[in-house]
Amino acid sequence: MSKSKPHIIVEGSESFVLGEIKGNQITYNFEQMLVYLESKGKSVYGQKFRLFEEDRDILFKLCNYVIKDEVNCKKLGLDLNKGILLSGPVGCGKTSLMQLLRYVVPHQKAYKIIPARNIVFGFNHLGYKTIEDYGNGNYFCFDDLGVEPIGRHYGKDCNVMGEIILSRYDLFISTKLKTHVTTNLNAQELEERYGKRVRSRMREVFNLVAFDKNTGDKRK
Ligand SMILES: Nc1ncnc2c1ncn2[C@@H]1O[C@H](COP(=O)(O)OP(=O)(O)O)[C@@H](O)[C@H]1O
Ligand SMILES: [Mg+2]
Repeated sequence: MSKSKPHIIVEGSESFVLGEIKGNQITYNFEQMLVYLESKGKSVYGQKFRLFEEDRDILFKLCNYVIKDEVNCKKLGLDLNKGILLSGPVGCGKTSLMQLLRYVVPHQKAYKIIPARNIVFGFNHLGYKTIEDYGNGNYFCFDDLGVEPIGRHYGKDCNVMGEIILSRYDLFISTKLKTHVTTNLNAQELEERYGKRVRSRMREVFNLVAFDKNTGDKRK
């Protein structure tokens, strides 16, 4: 990556021009972003990877969000100060997309993708230190929120991800810290799992981007 040309991404012998520089701003081209995402997807996940026409709206939202296109985000109802809550059925491609989108903006600080389940396993071993480790100022995407078991450390139960979300909410308010999550759960199920308080905080810190519940499983 060249520092002055973050919109030109070089992969081996190929370069992908994702837009053009106008003044000191990059104007991204959505179609070119899709070409790059599909190519990167193939190199990461294998030749079977392809972008689906039915996912176009989701891709448009996520692309505009990652490149911080203020005009389009406003139209799309996306708040650039908030994170993304990407929901949809198992296998629709949530985790893959969150992985791939980071490559589109190599000049931005990348979020670490951490499975919620692993965080709870960490908690079971290490206890509340784990909540500090993920409730801090680092930039994370919590993957598969809602499938993790209840944490248990020395006989004490803890809704680990709920606690972490509350900690990060405080940082969102005080320092604009962003968090992303992926989940198979809908709003109702999230509330059942984490309670009203966490759910209402989630509304404040996330833009909801939802795959249709009938989106197919891309493993098949
Ligand atoms: N656009 C795609 N084209 C082909 N295969 C895909 C695509 N997106 C994801 N996959 C594959 O489908 C499976 C499920 O994708 P994943 O991102 O893990 O879904 P989710 O996180 O929504 O459950 C993975 O094996 C992934 O490699
Ligand atoms: Mg996933």
